[in-house]
Amino acid sequence: MTDGMKTAGVLGLGFMGASLGAALRGASGIGRVVGYDSSADARAQALDNAHVDEVLDSAADVARAADLLVLCTPVQQIITYLTELGPLLRPGTVVLDIGSTKSAVTEAMDKLLPDDVVPIGGHPMTGPATAGTDSPTARIFAGRVFLLTPTLRTDPAVTRWCTGLLEEIGARVEVLEPARHDRLVAVVSHLPRILPLPLLELADKDPDPMLAELPAGGFRESTRKATENIDMWADVLVTNTDHVVEALRRYAREVELVADRVAESDPAALRELLTTAADRWTTLFEAE
Ligand SMILES: NC(=O)c1ccc[n+]([C@@H]2O[C@H](COP(=O)([O-])OP(=O)(O)OC[C@H]3O[C@@H](n4cnc5c(N)ncnc54)[C@H](O)[C@@H]3O)[C@@H](O)[C@H]2O)c1
Repeated sequence: MTDGMKTAGVLGLGFMGASLGAALRGASGIGRVVGYDSSADARAQALDNAHVDEVLDSAADVARAADLLVLCTPVQQIITYLTELGPLLRPGTVVLDIGSTKSAVTEAMDKLLPDDVVPIGGHPMTGPATAGTDSPTARIFAGRVFLLTPTLRTDPAVTRWCTGLLEEIGARVEVLEPARHDRLVAVVSHLPRILPLPLLELADKDPDPMLAELPAGGFRESTRKATENIDMWADVLVTNTDHVVEALRRYAREVELVADRVAESDPAALRELLTTAADRWTTLFEAE
């Protein structure tokens, strides 16, 4: 399927799917982008904002039309679609997903998809929180890492083709194994979504009712992620349980170490603790 003008089919026209649809519309080699979402509102938004060329009547219609099928729903629905839509795909179709967990999806791809289609996992390391916008836009991929996780069945030529396509929409592609992906993103992506939970719980359980009157900017910003997309994140936690739990336990040990340092109440040591953390943050984000 790596020659000629392709039809890209996007299932799930929420923030990520609509953004990717819009980006693919500008890619050479993609002649048409069609899509479908179970929400009438999402379908209307995608059409009104020209995120896709055409919205079709069903997921099955998109599957039949696609040379490149991109699954952009929450993760559990991605897996359901692999079962339901696999038999409808034409030989040679490339099936890419952008779900936030990769082992569960790539194993399901290998097991559930017909032998004559080519699966590959993907995960763009961008989103509303990173891009600073709630509106889907093709620009969210520019300069961001887009991880590709080939399955046991992925043809290397398809990995190269996807890499070229994603680079064309501005992404920086990295290829890695699904299990390694899941372990790494548990720390940098999944944990940040969970960390506000105990903090909110701590505040809620405080015996002094006055506490509820006090939260200001710091508390608000530190806990904002607790409000993010519950459908999407419930699926992430269910499909990356072991890595997230392991990362949470390691995090709890780090919390204990910080508590020990604070308990010493040594001004110089505390300055060093804070300075080291600030330096680490700067190193991580200075390129931005
Ligand atoms: N938001 C992020 O930061 C981010 C980053 C990278 C990857 N992802 C992954 O991308 C995927 C989509 O995330 P999002 O942020 O766009 O979420 P979203 O909630 O904005 O969009 C999901 C869309 O899927 C649609 N949908 C649900 N079930 C469907 C079905 N059966 N058929 C068709 N459409 C269906 C919903 O109506 C919604 O429009 C998820 O798998 C998520 O893990 C998200």
